[in-house]
Amino acid sequence: IALAREAYRRGAEVTLVHGPLNAKPKLPRQMKRVAITSAADMREAMLKRFAEKPEVVIMAAAVADYRPAQVASEKIKKSTGPNSLELISNSDVLVELGELKGKSAAPFLVGFAVETGSQEELIAEVQRKLARKNADLMVGNLAQDSFDKDTNRVCLVRRSGEAVCLETARKSIIARSIFDGIVQAMKETATSPAEMSA
Ligand code: CTP
Repeated sequence: IALAREAYRRGAEVTLVHGPLNAKPKLPRQMKRVAITSAADMREAMLKRFAEKPEVVIMAAAVADYRPAQVASEKIKKSTGPNSLELISNSDVLVELGELKGKSAAPFLVGFAVETGSQEELIAEVQRKLARKNADLMVGNLAQDSFDKDTNRVCLVRRSGEAVCLETARKSIIARSIFDGIVQAMKETATSPAEMSA
């Protein structure tokens, strides 16, 4: 929500694809909103918007990695229920978008990753994840800094491997820093000699 607000504040035409929200956030009327409830719906909504050639795509959602193999239409009785649930993998939306993007500069693809461990481990894991998912920028944070908190502490990792860790701040401030990072990286990509000669 903070990222969508910040993008809008900067003059972008924003489409917010979101899952169920606890509170009803106040958002500008002009902001397009797509409400979804499942990972499959998220995938469909993102693929549709991706085809509209956005300049920037930010995957901040914690999309579920798995879904139950079987969905019961009626109550499962304890006496007949299983002791464990079989799960099947959901599609990784960011991976799919990264594949569609391929080697092209647009859209600028931003991913998120929450990890546990030290800051060094976080940066190393985020660098690996960024490469695996073909993102341009990845925002990493540690579970202990973010869960159940109004504030967060994030590290921005670029395609070059460069990592910048920001001070603990409220999410609205972090959203500004993330967009500063996006704008800076997009400018550098547009003017880098490798891109110009490509
Ligand atoms: N993501 C996604 N679709 C999924 C799962 C995650 O698009 N089904 C995106 C998230 O929106 C986020 C990034 O991928 O931008 C986070 O990936 P994460 O869950 O941390 O990585 P995994 O590949 O699932 O690796 P692991 O959980 O093993 O660390």
